[in-house]
Amino acid sequence: MFAAAFGFGCTSTPTEARLIEENLNVAVAQIGSLNRSSLETGTPRIPSTYADGEIKYVPTDDWVSGFFAGTLWHMYRLTGDEQWAESARRHTDILDSVQYLTWHHDVGFMINCSYGNALRFAPTAADTAVMVTAARSLATRYSPETGTILSWNVDRGWQAERGWRFPVIIDNMMNLELLFKAAEFSGDSSLYDIAVSHADRTLAEHFREDGSCYHVVDYDPETGAVRRRCTAQGYADESSWARGQAWAIYGYTLCYRYTGDERYMRHAEKVCRFVMEHPNMPEDMVPYWDFDAPNIPDACRDASSAAVIASALYELYTYDNDPQMKERADRIVASLSTPAYRAAVGENGGFLLMHSVGSIPHGSSIDVPLNYADYYLLEALLRKQNIEKGEPVLQ
Ligand code: GLY
Repeated sequence: MFAAAFGFGCTSTPTEARLIEENLNVAVAQIGSLNRSSLETGTPRIPSTYADGEIKYVPTDDWVSGFFAGTLWHMYRLTGDEQWAESARRHTDILDSVQYLTWHHDVGFMINCSYGNALRFAPTAADTAVMVTAARSLATRYSPETGTILSWNVDRGWQAERGWRFPVIIDNMMNLELLFKAAEFSGDSSLYDIAVSHADRTLAEHFREDGSCYHVVDYDPETGAVRRRCTAQGYADESSWARGQAWAIYGYTLCYRYTGDERYMRHAEKVCRFVMEHPNMPEDMVPYWDFDAPNIPDACRDASSAAVIASALYELYTYDNDPQMKERADRIVASLSTPAYRAAVGENGGFLLMHSVGSIPHGSSIDVPLNYADYYLLEALLRKQNIEKGEPVLQ
């Protein structure tokens, strides 16, 4: 069951091919086991992490709900084995109602990682409609005053206690992919315009001179003015939360993909320089959870940030042709493939990567596997494989 199968063209070196093959063999065993666990009750469940000896499952409206379906789609693309596609489809279809979700911005992550990958690898006619409906749901959160999409509602949960009025988080850049794709499918240019507006205002307001970004920018919903720049998941308002930097690199790279606007590519490069040249970036290029964490070098690493950055840099490399981009991505992938980060087969609840951080300020998911770390590692491997074969990176 779930055999690994792939071949390389003449551009790939045996070492690179072996690294991918070896990762894939581990992934077949680990994700295969996670997949079996998720189906144990007969209805697909969504594994998010592993803690206290148990796989933790999340409901469909959780922001991470699309990553496991996406992981299964990546496994299908990497192996060509139809059994992965079958399970990916089952885990995708349970997210059908998410297309109508309007109470947070993460509908982009949730639908694009599941249905978006279904559309790439084994599309059905219904997938396009789901993407467009989801994009329209996301667009309901757009404000012409701020020029951005509202990330979090401020009338519920811990967000209600922060005094924010219109918080936008850097993570929101990742949701723009759904808007760009839906604009193409539907011909509705307003979805494209919203994505561009959000990217432009975020570029203007979220970043410091050195290329690093704030996590949260709170706007005045009436005037559109910035009220405050701060953090929710980072160490401090003026610190650089690692995953935020990763979302920024990935987000502006994808904006370049859809718009061809060089400013976005240059901006992704600038954030990349900040991260890669930071004195607190470890030798193995797996960042601490925050570049300014107080207890470096004893602070937790965040494998999920590393995986997101690697995946983004493979794509960026194909646009700017800077060999450093690929070298850095390769270095991250090589580090994540060592026993320091990648679990041994049979361990880690079936997740591939250990040592990610959800949110230290919230005391949640600290130094654990996270389904999005695995998702972006597999995406990075797929992109690397495409590059090594001389094929389009996003194929
Ligand atoms: N989007 C939430 C996170 O990166 O933790």
